[in-house]
Amino acid sequence: MEFVTYEQDGYVGIITINRPKALNALNSAVLEELDATFKAVDLDTTRCLILTGAGEKSFVAGADIGEMSTLTKAEGEAFGKKGNDVFRAIETFPIPVIAAVNGFALGGGCEISMSCDIRICSENAVFGQPEVGLGITPGFGGTQRLARLVGAGMAKQLIYTARNIKADEAYRIGLVNAVYPLEELLPAAKKMAAGIAANAPIAVRNCKKAINDGLQVDMDQAIVIEEKLFGDCFETEDQKAGMGNFLEKDKEKKLKVVPFQNK
Ligand code: CAA
Repeated sequence: MEFVTYEQDGYVGIITINRPKALNALNSAVLEELDATFKAVDLDTTRCLILTGAGEKSFVAGADIGEMSTLTKAEGEAFGKKGNDVFRAIETFPIPVIAAVNGFALGGGCEISMSCDIRICSENAVFGQPEVGLGITPGFGGTQRLARLVGAGMAKQLIYTARNIKADEAYRIGLVNAVYPLEELLPAAKKMAAGIAANAPIAVRNCKKAINDGLQVDMDQAIVIEEKLFGDCFETEDQKAGMGNFLEKDKEKKLKVVPFQNK
């Protein structure tokens, strides 16, 4: 891979978008490599992913403006679909994905962070959807996910004004869960990922699916989705070990990582 690196750290996989000369901007090649990287993750040995950008300045500075500048209407729509397909695959990826936003997260950069389950960022992070200043709409899910994450009113204000916001404001409006000094960001992401990975993996996956799928439907249907995924956890080794440890009051055993198994 030229633009994406993958590192395995125990049960945690770290995916880094590595095109620092262009502040990690997303061109077609980066999108294709990202897609291939996610598809290649070994789900038997990986329980949580971290997505970050190379360098100390930028997470992702957006979709590649040079590549987009000459597109026709049909090509523009196809480019939007290309990004949307990859981002939707991240959003629905079976295991949690934490975005460690280490600098600029503009346009497609803000959008890819929003397709992750959890966003944390460095103090130098800058978020925004500057597209209307470029004569286009956000095209990799920004009009949809920003409104769902921070509410329609705030999303409309940010998108219509194309105003960038700093880390503290992103935290205040709920776009990120926490802000760290830059050097502490990746360690914090790894600590969170390891904490997630220490929990029962089938249960964590089912929680992600329940939340994601439940948000697409009304509450009556949503609780049925939860009931099925809750029921699906029973009879698994994870459930037997997790509850058995509690009932045996065995603190040592309780701390043990429940081994992954499919059923
Ligand atoms: N596309 C292509 N190249 C980009 C880029 C992008 N989105 N963002 C930065 N770069 C390139 C620059 O062209 C520059 O390349 P050269 O050295 O070859 O000239 C290099 O990265 C460094 O950038 P700057 O010199 O501009 O760095 P800076 O520190 O002065 O400014 C910045 C940083 C404020 C992030 C500025 O680069 C910038 O505004 N970038 C564009 C941000 C943007 O508008 N993103 C949204 C894109 S549209 C989109 O994403 C649509 C969608 O929803 C799908």
